[in-house]
Amino acid sequence: CTPEVRELLLSRITDVVDYPKPGVVFKDITPLLADPKAFGALTDTLVELAGRYGATKIVGLEARGFILAAPVAVKAGIGFIPVRKAGKLPGATLAQAYELEYGTAEIEVHAEDLSAGDRVMVIDDVLATGGTAEASLELIRRAGAEVAGVAVLMELSFLPGREKLSGALAGAPLDAL
Ligand code: PRP
Repeated sequence: CTPEVRELLLSRITDVVDYPKPGVVFKDITPLLADPKAFGALTDTLVELAGRYGATKIVGLEARGFILAAPVAVKAGIGFIPVRKAGKLPGATLAQAYELEYGTAEIEVHAEDLSAGDRVMVIDDVLATGGTAEASLELIRRAGAEVAGVAVLMELSFLPGREKLSGALAGAPLDAL
């Protein structure tokens, strides 16, 4: 994004110390969402990226990824596909487990929402360890679709998320705004 948009976005993300547990600095995006100029600039930047990726579908990752991805899909005029935490989708799903710091988690997508010929852009708020994004790319490929690119608002560059994701990206772009 442009330096002006980057500054605007940074100014609307708040550090919350010791949340949700001691030692963690949480990045709160609610001030950004409450500011239509900042949220609009973010959405416009992501729509432009969707065009550059040649995306034909937008996947949002529950929950904060939904907030960012849905307006992008509408503005880009392409479909929005939710990737949800396990047990939330009523139809036939593909599921993918991934590692957390302690234990594992699982995400799902409706199998009929993605198919061969789709070029899928994944949108989320944060890339941390990369586990969630990596699992979403597995789901997209297992559905027969192509990964067009991954865009996140923030990348926690002190964590190895980008390296973890590189294999699953298989050359597709990863953009952190
Ligand atoms: C957060 C964030 C990303 C994920 C990144 O989701 O929104 O989806 O963690 O972490 P990772 O790169 O280590 O996988 P979380 O489920 O914590 O919260 P949310 O449902 O509020 O979005």
